[in-house]
Amino acid sequence: MSEFRVKSITKLHAEFSVPGDKSMSHRAAILGGLSNGTCTITNFLPSEDCVNTLNAMKALGADHEVLEELEGYGPVKLRIHGQSMQLSAPEKPIDCGNSGTGMRLLAGLLAGQPFTSELFGDASLSSRPMGRITVPLGQMGAHIETKGEKPGCAPLLIHPAKVQPIDYEMPVASAQVKSAVLLAGMFAEGKTSVTQPATTRDHTERMLASFRVSTRTENHVISMVGGQMPESCDFIVPGDISSAAFWLVAAAALPGSRLVIQNVGLNPTRTAILNVLSRMGAHMSEIVHSSSGEPIGNIEIHGCPLTGTTILPEEVPNLIDEIPVIAIAAALAQGKTEIRNAKELRVKETDRITTVVNNLRAMGGVVEELEDGMIIEGGHPLHGADLDSYGDHRIAMAFAIAGLFASGETIIHNTDCVNTSYPGFAHHLEAIRHHRSEPADFILPTISHA
Ligand code: S3P
Repeated sequence: MSEFRVKSITKLHAEFSVPGDKSMSHRAAILGGLSNGTCTITNFLPSEDCVNTLNAMKALGADHEVLEELEGYGPVKLRIHGQSMQLSAPEKPIDCGNSGTGMRLLAGLLAGQPFTSELFGDASLSSRPMGRITVPLGQMGAHIETKGEKPGCAPLLIHPAKVQPIDYEMPVASAQVKSAVLLAGMFAEGKTSVTQPATTRDHTERMLASFRVSTRTENHVISMVGGQMPESCDFIVPGDISSAAFWLVAAAALPGSRLVIQNVGLNPTRTAILNVLSRMGAHMSEIVHSSSGEPIGNIEIHGCPLTGTTILPEEVPNLIDEIPVIAIAAALAQGKTEIRNAKELRVKETDRITTVVNNLRAMGGVVEELEDGMIIEGGHPLHGADLDSYGDHRIAMAFAIAGLFASGETIIHNTDCVNTSYPGFAHHLEAIRHHRSEPADFILPTISHA
């Protein structure tokens, strides 16, 4: 099992790109596989999570060819053969690994199929709540059994069913739930609509539009008429802003630094992290250079002394994955940062309120744990510590960033999990740590957009 050993840095001058967006890679694999032809997906995220979804689509009849591979990880460019909405029964249970997105979206897809299927995952995924999708999918007529040891949890046994459209009001702001219902709704006759309590990432809606499946968004209601055939198209996946967030925080918290992240997704339902870091004092500019479907661009950030902030309730769904690393920025800032309305963190790959609080305290951070968040009293010097990732990729990476600002050495154990979202993170970390930081010679390995 691998580990990160991290010491403090004194400068950061870098310009690079991060691997493809996880949310979009899952959706591209699914919609490409449903489409009526061949789709080329460029800058696919070759992470375990997304490769599992790609393999799931293959098991359902939508095979793919790898056009380019990141050695040791998986495909970064591929051609997927759409099945015109006619999937075939999988021969065996489908492995979703560690991925909540993979399992919940695939459950939506499989809810209205004329065959039985089963979805399973690792220990973390088998303890995450699936009632949030089995309830609305059940209301649509799906018959899904949760077979986990923990009630309401995976494995999911999905029986053959014909689904009906619904108007569903989501109790939690979740893009996974919204997407599961919309994917099921593609197989229902009539109009399915989902009302969300707050804006969540809209990649499903945008990608459906790229595949010429029309959806309508009015305020917080998204609706779609079932039975539309997704028309095959090619898709370029932008870099993942949630992966960029680790380096953005490192640069923001280091006065005098300059970092440019290239070709990253700038979808406004994902960029709340930029607003938070600006409020905390970082100087930043974004340049969108392509915006058909999903906006893509460069972010330039300059580090400055940071001050604490309050995360606004409406921001939470749009930076939920970034909260672990925002907590690190908060610990490095002067003053108090309050994070509330974020109870969802307790049902991620780990209970991210507890895992962030425990690790931050182990490094000398001062933090109060709340039921739905945390209050961080910034400005207390961090010291190196022996930490566990608890098998959670974002905890491993967030605390690697903390280690860049701590005295002594920080060791993070159990870091293989970063491959679920950021293949190559360790490589980028090494380059930053060793100050390969002059702009001219600091070109980190990137995943080609060609
Ligand atoms: C995702 C939605 C979010 C996010 C996850 C990816 C998606 O989860 O945390 O990493 O791709 O739809 P929720 O829908 O549970 O908020």
